[in-house]
Amino acid sequence: MTFGAEASQRVDRIYQNPDIVAQRQFTLDHLKLKKGDHVIDIGCGPGLLAMDMAEIVGPTGRVIGIDPSEDMCAIAADRCKGVGSITIKDGDANTLPCETSSLDAAIATQVYEFVPEIDAALTEACRVLKPGGQLAIIDTDWDSVVMRTDDRDRMHKVLEGRRDHFVHPDLPGRLPSLLSKAGFDLAYSGGTPIVNTSMAQGTYSAEIIRSSAKQAAKREGLSPEIAEAWLKELEGFEARGEFFFSITRFLFIAQKPS
Ligand SMILES: C[S@@+](CC[C@H](N)C(=O)[O-])C[C@H]1O[C@@H](n2cnc3c(N)ncnc32)[C@H](O)[C@@H]1O
Repeated sequence: MTFGAEASQRVDRIYQNPDIVAQRQFTLDHLKLKKGDHVIDIGCGPGLLAMDMAEIVGPTGRVIGIDPSEDMCAIAADRCKGVGSITIKDGDANTLPCETSSLDAAIATQVYEFVPEIDAALTEACRVLKPGGQLAIIDTDWDSVVMRTDDRDRMHKVLEGRRDHFVHPDLPGRLPSLLSKAGFDLAYSGGTPIVNTSMAQGTYSAEIIRSSAKQAAKREGLSPEIAEAWLKELEGFEARGEFFFSITRFLFIAQKPS
C-alpha cells in the first residue's frame, strides 16, 4: 500500500493521539535504547518515533528514518528539522541504506504488515544490526478487536474489510517463527491494548471506526447499508454511554545473536 498525501496526513493526526503516544512509550520502555546508540526507524512515517528516539540517544547518537512514501518523508523531515542526530531518507524495508553490522537497534512499528517480502525484510534488518543488536516490531491483528455489539455477524463482516488494508493481516501470530528463520533470538513478546469507552472526537476509535465503515462500504459483496447500520449502532451506544472498543498491539523484541 502506498501512503499518499491524504493517508500520510491521517496517520500524522491519528498517531499524535494519546493512545498511540502511550504505545510509543510502551515500545521504547522495552527497547531500552542508550545514549550514543545508532538506530534505524524502518517505515518512519511522520517521524514521531524518530523524535522520541533522538531525545533518548542524545547528540552523540544517530537516528535514521527511512520510508518509501514521499509524503511521509516530507512530514517527517519537517518535524525533525533542526535535530542534527536525525536523518530522514527515502527507502524500503528490503534495502536498508546502512552498512552490515553497523547499528545498535532497529524499529518497525505498524510497518511489516504492509511489506510483501517479509522474510527478506527481516533478514535485511538482521544484516544491519551489530551482534547483540535489537529489532523492535509492533504489529496488529484486527482479530484482536473486542467491541460492544448486538450483531456480531454484521460487526465481523465490517471488520473483515479492515483486514484488506494489510498485506499480512495475521502477522503477529507468524512473527516469532519468521524472526527465528531470519536469524534472530526472540527476547520479548507482549501486547498493549488500546481501550476506548467513547468514540468521541479525539479518541483513537473516532478515526478508526468511521474509516472502517467507509472502507467496508466499498467492499465487494457488502452493501453500504450494512456498514451504515453498524456505525448507527455504535453511535447509539456512544449516546447512551455504553460504547466499548479494544484492540491489541503486539510487540516483539528480537536480538541478533552475539
Ligand atoms: C501506519 S504507518 C506507521 C508509521 C510509523 N512507523 C509510526 O509508527 O508512526 C506505515 C508506514 O509504513 C511505510 N511502509 C509501507 N511499506 C513499506 C516498506 N516496504 N518499507 C518501509 N516502509 C514501508 C508507509 O509508507 C508508512 O509510512
